[in-house]
Amino acid sequence: CFTPNDFNYDEYIGYNAVVIDVLRATTSIVTACVNGCERVIPVKTVEEALEIKAKYPDALLAGERKGLLIPGFDLGNSPYEYTEEQVVGKTIIMTTTNGTLALSKAAVAHRVYILAFANAASVTKLLLNTQEDIVILCAGSEGQFSLEDALCAGLLADRLSSKAILSDTAAAAQAMYRDFAADLLKKVAKSSHAQYLISIGFANDVALCLEQDTLAVTPVFTNGVVTA
Ligand code: MLT
Repeated sequence: CFTPNDFNYDEYIGYNAVVIDVLRATTSIVTACVNGCERVIPVKTVEEALEIKAKYPDALLAGERKGLLIPGFDLGNSPYEYTEEQVVGKTIIMTTTNGTLALSKAAVAHRVYILAFANAASVTKLLLNTQEDIVILCAGSEGQFSLEDALCAGLLADRLSSKAILSDTAAAAQAMYRDFAADLLKKVAKSSHAQYLISIGFANDVALCLEQDTLAVTPVFTNGVVTA
């Protein structure tokens, strides 16, 4: 699914889901998990985040609106902020514009894996050892197609293609990935969300989020909570 709007759960009963928001929610979640956070609780709204914080006073509030730190929150949505020093042993309550929304949509699936370019090798390895059907759900941007998420979906499709039967959409993502792979950063840097992040000072995040296979972790989202 190139956008959450394409995800119709009735079509995917019994499937496992893989959720992607390369820039930057799933990259930040993966980074937090590899750096030893206890759990991430993704929520749709700031209000929900504050309600949950009342139950977990030691938790960190994290996320973004318009790419920027939410006033009163502890962390923004830059993966650079999710250092071991900041997150080890912590519960992180996170709300972002598209990523946590996509996760809440996917929550109906049997099991939900969190994917970014950074942990693509780990997720591929895990999925190659399962027999279950998989739906890949790109967070996109406010309901629209996002190039970087589609390319990450294409990378996964490409790596699974020797064992999996790809849908037409997955095959299209695979072809797109193969076409862009040699020049990923340059191509994605021109995409609309990358351009926006660069304009507000996060060019380093764009580059970091496109690094492949750097983090060995397979976070899973079940019962409203992400754990490594
Ligand atoms: C989102 O969930 O929309 C993003 O991760 C936005 C961002 O922080 O770049």
